[in-house]
Amino acid sequence: MSSSSPRIVYLNGAFLPENEAHISIFDRGFLFGDGIYEVTAVLDGKLVDSPSHMARLERSVGEIGGRLPVSTDEIVKAEKRLIEENSLQEGMIYLQYTRGAEDRNFLYSEDLAPTLVMFTQAKKLDDPRAMEKGLKVKTVPDQRWARRDIKSVCLLPQVLAKKAAKADGFDEAWMLEDGVVTEGASSTAYIITADDRIITRANSNKTLPGCTRLAVLDLAREHGLTIEERPFTLAEALAAREAALTSASNFIVPIVMIDDTPVGDGKPGAMVKRLRALYMDNARKTAI
Ligand code: PDD
Repeated sequence: MSSSSPRIVYLNGAFLPENEAHISIFDRGFLFGDGIYEVTAVLDGKLVDSPSHMARLERSVGEIGGRLPVSTDEIVKAEKRLIEENSLQEGMIYLQYTRGAEDRNFLYSEDLAPTLVMFTQAKKLDDPRAMEKGLKVKTVPDQRWARRDIKSVCLLPQVLAKKAAKADGFDEAWMLEDGVVTEGASSTAYIITADDRIITRANSNKTLPGCTRLAVLDLAREHGLTIEERPFTLAEALAAREAALTSASNFIVPIVMIDDTPVGDGKPGAMVKRLRALYMDNARKTAI
C-alpha cells in the first residue's frame, strides 16, 4: 500500500482507490482459499507474456469448476487501464479470482457471483544486481497438495518455505519430493549440465506450468539449444554447471548456491546469461 495518493485497483468491474475497495468476510477466497491467482510482469508499461497468463488463468478456473465473470479480453483491457491509471512502468499486476461470497459451507452454491480483483505493484524487475550476483536457494520438503498445476491461492506451504529460506539468508526455497526437485516456492527450477543440456521438469500436476518457462524453452529451442524435460535429483543439481529459476517476477536468474554448495564455480554462468538476454529481448518485443 502506498502512503501518498492511493492506487487505483479493480474490483468486480469497478476502478476504485485502493482504500475504497472492500470484499466480504464471507468471501470463499478468505474462508477456504477457494481461489485462483495470476502474476503478470509489466515492462515499459506493457504486459509480458499476457496470452499465456490468460490461458493459464482460464485453465485453473476451469479445473476448480469456476467461471470467470468477464472474458480474458476484458481482463487484459482492465489490466491496461490499471497500468495507465497508476502510471506503472515496471512491476506486476496481481489478479485474484474467487468463487464468491456466501455463508460458510464447503458445498458452494452454483449461482455465486465470483469476486475478481486486480492491482498493480511497482517494482524494479529487470534488476542487473540479480544477474551479477545470482541467487541462493535453500532446499525444503515439498508439503503442497497434489494439484500444483492449478494456480491456487492456497500458498501456506510456500509462505513457510520462503520464510525459512530467508531466515537462513537464502533468496528462494527449492522444494524436494522423493529425492527430486519439484520447483521453487514461487518459481520454476532448472539445471544446466557440463555438456550444455537445459534440464527442467515436464509440466504435470506436480508443478505449476510456468509462463516464463514456456517462453524461455521456446526461445531455447529456436536457438537450437538442447532441452531435457524431466525431473532432476538434488545430487544432479549439486553437480550441475549452472542452475536457474524462472518466474514472472524474476524472469530468468542464475542460482549460484544450493544449501551450502556452490553451483559450478559459484558465479552466474554463460548459458543462463544467454537465456536471460534472449528472454528479455523477446519479452520487451512481444509485451502488449
Ligand atoms: N509465482 N512455480 C510456482 C509454484 C510459482 O508460484 C510460480 C510463479 C512459478 C513460475 O510461473 P510464472 O513463470 O508463470 O510466473 C512456478 C508467482 C510469480 C507468484 O506467486 O508471485
